[in-house]
Amino acid sequence: MKGKICIVTGANSGVGKETAKQLAELDYHVIMVVRNEEKGRLALEEIKTETGKTSLDLMICDFASQKSIHDFAKKFREKHNRLDILVNNHGVMPSKKILTEDGIESAFAINHLGYFLLTNLLLDMIKVSSPARILNVCSGSYGAVRKIRLDDYNFDKRRFSWFKAYSESKLYNVMFTLDLAARLKNSNVTVNTFTPGFTLTNLGQSLRSMRLITKLRSRKAAMPSDAAKIAIYFVTSQEMEGVSGKYFMKMDMKETTEIARDKKLQKELWNLSEKLTKMN
Ligand SMILES: NC(=O)c1ccc[n+]([C@@H]2O[C@H](COP(=O)([O-])OP(=O)(O)OC[C@H]3O[C@@H](n4cnc5c(N)ncnc54)[C@H](OP(=O)(O)O)[C@@H]3O)[C@@H](O)[C@H]2O)c1
Repeated sequence: MKGKICIVTGANSGVGKETAKQLAELDYHVIMVVRNEEKGRLALEEIKTETGKTSLDLMICDFASQKSIHDFAKKFREKHNRLDILVNNHGVMPSKKILTEDGIESAFAINHLGYFLLTNLLLDMIKVSSPARILNVCSGSYGAVRKIRLDDYNFDKRRFSWFKAYSESKLYNVMFTLDLAARLKNSNVTVNTFTPGFTLTNLGQSLRSMRLITKLRSRKAAMPSDAAKIAIYFVTSQEMEGVSGKYFMKMDMKETTEIARDKKLQKELWNLSEKLTKMN
């Protein structure tokens, strides 16, 4: 796999860190994308020490800032001329309504628009590197969304709920994946989405209810290394060659909810995302 370039976002902890580690073990060149340089440096050094591999770089991107995403994409292009694997993995579960510097609710901005903007900024490079693969990490909680609220992504018309904000953003990960796969038909670039299921990471640990759930269910939780093994299967295995536009619960391919596969809603989401990221 020497010479093959991968990006893993949110690579300093949890599923992302383990995915970066396991890709490095397979001799891919891994770009670990993090928002905090110090935390990123620690993770990078740890992976290098544990694997004995040196083909890893650290790059900085705060997905709460569209300027930062543009800066990262520009720097990446200056250093590299191909991108074989993109793992959009970073994610937040905000405990309260926070607007980003772009004026957008943070779960929607970071979890969805972050995947959307980065992917679109690098898509031409991904296409020329084909066969190439994109993996979007979603969550099974997306299935809890019964009504899509693209008219109120900022929670101006309803009371903020961390669960709604998170699960809606994860629904958008699934919808974006299905729509992008259709747009990439015949391109030899595949895009899939998977949920690692309940995994012991830092996600949501600022929320009391999530800390309690973690405490009660920790024996049933997966470890980040188990989740990463599945992510690695999706982005490297021969079996996944040509498979695109699918949603997986861990290793199992599942049908998506009706809302997620509604093409009209997918188009609405795409148009709104383009407008908010000024990609149109
Ligand atoms: N853990 C679970 O049970 C579970 C279940 C289903 C789905 N997932 C999904 O799995 C993915 C990985 O999460 P995890 O469980 O591994 O949690 P985690 O340990 O909290 O990792 C999340 C990563 O995202 C990064 N991140 C957050 N906001 C960012 C921003 N604005 N810019 C750049 N990076 C940012 C974090 O950086 P910092 O360390 O700097 O905050 C961290 O590296 C997420 O997409 C999550 O939705 C997790």
